[in-house]
Amino acid sequence: MSVFAIYDRLERQVRELLAGESDFMANGANFAALVYHELPDLNWVGFYRCAPSGDLVLGPFAGRPACTRLPAGHGVCGAAAARRASLVVDDVAAFADHIACDTASRSEIVVPLFAGDRLWGVFDCDSPALARFGEEDRAGIERLVRAFSEATQPPEPPAR
Ligand code: SME
Repeated sequence: MSVFAIYDRLERQVRELLAGESDFMANGANFAALVYHELPDLNWVGFYRCAPSGDLVLGPFAGRPACTRLPAGHGVCGAAAARRASLVVDDVAAFADHIACDTASRSEIVVPLFAGDRLWGVFDCDSPALARFGEEDRAGIERLVRAFSEATQPPEPPAR
């Protein structure tokens, strides 16, 4: 199956799985579990929400326990939030500000989440393989995140 076809099928699965529900906790948990189990070579998949302080606070995820709070502007997640665009890191060891929550992670993609113009969080995928996320994966994961965002009510911000 081509990479495009994998994401095509997965996008349909996301829309079916989230149909009729808009709650962030419910949809976020199911979305993370689906992506974690359906895409090969991932060791962590999940959400961080923007706190009023700018910190990113852990949300629903699949994988090992992760860092609860990422300081504002730091890590791959903070960098993607600051540039308000997806960020792909082929080798996290070469990204000076990478925050290692799971030492198995070698490459990473972070996609920001918006309600209109307002950035309210990020979706993060980690892989134990170097350069796991190519251009087709970036486009595919952005498609999945769009389907998630269309089905889901943006959550209230977490506490400072
Ligand atoms: N590596 C991320 C932190 C989150 S974990 O990957 C779950 C970062 O550098 O922002």
